[in-house]
Amino acid sequence: MRIKIFSYSRTGTNDILAEKIASELSIQNNKIIEKDKSTYFRITIDMLLKRFPKISIPDISITDYDLVLIIAPVWFGKPALPLKSFFKEMNGKMKNFIFISLSGGGEGINSNPKLSEYLEKKAGITPIAVINKYIADFLPQEPKPSAKEIENYKITESDFDRISSEITKEILKFIPIQS
Ligand SMILES: Cc1cc2nc3c(=O)[nH]c(=O)nc-3n(C[C@H](O)[C@H](O)[C@H](O)COP(=O)(O)O)c2cc1C
Repeated sequence: MRIKIFSYSRTGTNDILAEKIASELSIQNNKIIEKDKSTYFRITIDMLLKRFPKISIPDISITDYDLVLIIAPVWFGKPALPLKSFFKEMNGKMKNFIFISLSGGGEGINSNPKLSEYLEKKAGITPIAVINKYIADFLPQEPKPSAKEIENYKITESDFDRISSEITKEILKFIPIQS
């Protein structure tokens, strides 16, 4: 089974995760790069005006790939805005995809309840899996971590290693064993 990975990241987290997962699967990660940096102001304006942020992807070809892994943050319960442009470019080309995110997760298990629904709407196909891990889970759970604590948490190398091997195991469940 041929797998291709794409990642988008505003502050680096999901790119690091993607590189680790790619290395565990012995494949290369492909970064989705935005032409203009997503500031909070730009994100708000782009959302209000329903814009498609300009992106560039060095190698977007997915012909011959059976599975696409998309690794990106969640914004306001939805896949980060540059993915809207990515899905537009991919329209009709992707056979199967898994969406993976390391997001804030301030609402615990109920964070991002409509993520799968949004992904299906934007991609035009149902993701075979949505794996959403939360930064909040790296913090002590009592008392519940605040939004500020989650935002300020510096993810350690061992957090990344643990979460990436956990995610890779989940991905492998969807990959048939080669005979
Ligand atoms: C504008 C904005 C909105 C966000 N909304 C959510 C959200 O709805 N749910 C969530 O779990 N995390 C949310 N987050 C937190 C990010 O998903 C989290 O910081 C992520 O790890 C950033 O990834 P990156 O470093 O790859 O850009 C939001 C972050 C930003 C900047």
